[in-house]
Amino acid sequence: MLDNFIDNLLKQMTLDEKIGQLQQVTGDFFGSSGGAITGPIDDQAKKYIKDNVYNIGSVLGISGKKEIIDIQKNFLQHSRLKIPLLFMADIIHGYKTIFPIPLGLAASWDPKLIKDVAQASADEAAAEGISVTFSPMADLVRDPRWGRVMESTGEDPFLNSIYAKAFVEGYQGKDRIDNNHLAATVKHFAGYGAVEAGREYNTVDMSEWRFRSEYLPSYKAAVEAKAQLVMTSFNTLFGIPVTGNRYILQDILRKELSFDGVIISDWNSIGELIDHGVAENMGQAASLALKAGVDIDMMSFSYISQLENLIDSKKINIDLIDHAVYRILSLKKKLGLFDDPFRGLETKKVNSHVFTDEKLALAQKAAEESIVLLKNDDKTLPLNIDDSVALVGDIGDSHDLLGSWSFKGDKLSVKTIKESLYSKFKKIVFAKGYKTASDFSSKMAEEAVAIAKKQKYIIFVAGLESEQSGEASSLTDIKIADNQIRLLKKLAELGKPIITLLVTGRPLDLTEIQKYSNAILLAWFPGTKGADALAKIITGETNPSGKITMTFPRNVGQTPIYYNHFNTGRPLLDKNADEKYLSKYLDSPNDPLYPFGFGLSYSNFKIGQLTVDSKEIKENSSILASIIVHNPSKLDGDATVQWYIRDLSAEVVRPVKELKFFEKKLVKAGSSSKFIFRIDLSDLSYVHSNKKMYPDKGKFILAAGFSSSDDDLSCVEFIYK
Ligand code: NOJ
Repeated sequence: MLDNFIDNLLKQMTLDEKIGQLQQVTGDFFGSSGGAITGPIDDQAKKYIKDNVYNIGSVLGISGKKEIIDIQKNFLQHSRLKIPLLFMADIIHGYKTIFPIPLGLAASWDPKLIKDVAQASADEAAAEGISVTFSPMADLVRDPRWGRVMESTGEDPFLNSIYAKAFVEGYQGKDRIDNNHLAATVKHFAGYGAVEAGREYNTVDMSEWRFRSEYLPSYKAAVEAKAQLVMTSFNTLFGIPVTGNRYILQDILRKELSFDGVIISDWNSIGELIDHGVAENMGQAASLALKAGVDIDMMSFSYISQLENLIDSKKINIDLIDHAVYRILSLKKKLGLFDDPFRGLETKKVNSHVFTDEKLALAQKAAEESIVLLKNDDKTLPLNIDDSVALVGDIGDSHDLLGSWSFKGDKLSVKTIKESLYSKFKKIVFAKGYKTASDFSSKMAEEAVAIAKKQKYIIFVAGLESEQSGEASSLTDIKIADNQIRLLKKLAELGKPIITLLVTGRPLDLTEIQKYSNAILLAWFPGTKGADALAKIITGETNPSGKITMTFPRNVGQTPIYYNHFNTGRPLLDKNADEKYLSKYLDSPNDPLYPFGFGLSYSNFKIGQLTVDSKEIKENSSILASIIVHNPSKLDGDATVQWYIRDLSAEVVRPVKELKFFEKKLVKAGSSSKFIFRIDLSDLSYVHSNKKMYPDKGKFILAAGFSSSDDDLSCVEFIYK
């Protein structure tokens, strides 16, 4: 191997010491009590570690400057070779300062923002002793029944790739991962977002062609951005659970993508090879995973309990262990742990990194950019601060705005929507109206109606609690709770304008909400500064610009639903066609309630006609396309133009449209701005049946506009000759 320092270290290591490096444990093995437990723990775990605790390589789920320094010091005193522990954690959308959930951040269509958020999260977490984050989650998602869509950036391979790169660059920084940055882990490799029926940990099965075309690109982008770790997913893919799948981990990840960093299992995913039915016992499971290329065992204890036997019985070769240890030690070296096992912690002032004004300002900016205006009939929004307002809904008075995966976020210090709106509006009253997770209460509803009757506007807060999305939070239905909808209907009887604010971690069926609301603001779980961000949008101090990156269906029956689907042989081209034998439903339209890319602005932008400088593209040439956006309003606003391409005839079927480029920029009140896209052949390339990427000659459609819906797009046909 190439690094003398690591080679020398490796030579001095006993087999126990090597195996220890491959084992990851929770903080309680080192006496910590406040760690994040994110999976089941085997009762035997402590026994497996036995006398090996000072050989362990890494710890997950704990943080805190003092605790990490104490654990590391004690560890180094006892460890024979003084190889520092590596501390990892799920820093998913912030550490202490919590940013909007990733699906919300994605709605910003602002990769620079995502990079800044990742960098700020890294800076905070590093100041509290973390060196590796289990982020970004680059899983493509299409099914809102799956609770983990909140951790994803959505349904588009191109957009997900850009975001995956931005996350990695933000976490890791430039060139060298310094003490204010973290090593990034791209997860969950691979295809975890496609669990059948949206049921957590369920089977994934798809053709390799589809995997390569749609699911692989975002992981690839993270690897190309030099993510230092890859986490294997729980699911099966191509018939074999990924954690034991040599084709996926060796042939695709290591060889094709040239990934030479650390592969870590997900929590007990090595042990679960037995439940999947591809290993009979822990020994076989450990052997399958190690041979497939998994370097670190997170919490199955199969490596620490089995590898010695497997070596003794010659079932595995020591080279496999040496290579894995080499990669882990290289990561520790890259992170500077051999020079300073505390990575600057001892002299760092936590206060100047964590929860600083600068980070809070970024959290507010991120929340403002994430919030999506889904409906705004008759310019209901923005409201005037002198307007009288009834704020209704339990969630409006709740601190639960951080969302899942925010272990260190301090919920109670988070401003509620009520607190933020009370500081803006002069005449505002509040009524709970319903209680989350309870049945409809006529008494509460009547109280709310009585209060609302006397005000000009009603702001109704609806949605979910944070525990209703995230890991292990699948739902069979994505409807808003019945008590909320019944109350909304009662409020609607008053005939006053209703603005609904939605707090959610996933797309929901908003059919009823849409029917009874004049305006809808999608807040997601907006994070530490979310309520202030919402208040600024409601009052028009901020012009909303977010656009959803996951389709919102009309009903759960439409799922999975996504804009970049294939055409089928019997497409429904005319929504009102009476023809029976078409690809459609008898009881629902095909199109979603809100399409991918959709989101309104107070500026009511107008878009012109798409123009191109040529309708032909050849080898080594390009087409310059442009479109004018006009802002007729009195408010400056950010417009996002999305560029889609459709390949009309190809070797394999192609999506009805695919996002190829986008640009978000400020268009000043009363002025116009030109948006440009230069198309070259790489934009026409796709994965053929031979797995290779290249373009095919023939006709294409180029479309540009404010969402993926045909109604919002201007199109032109061109040809590759
Ligand atoms: C299980 C989750 O699937 C994964 O995303 C997470 O990083 C690990 N637990 C560690 O908490």
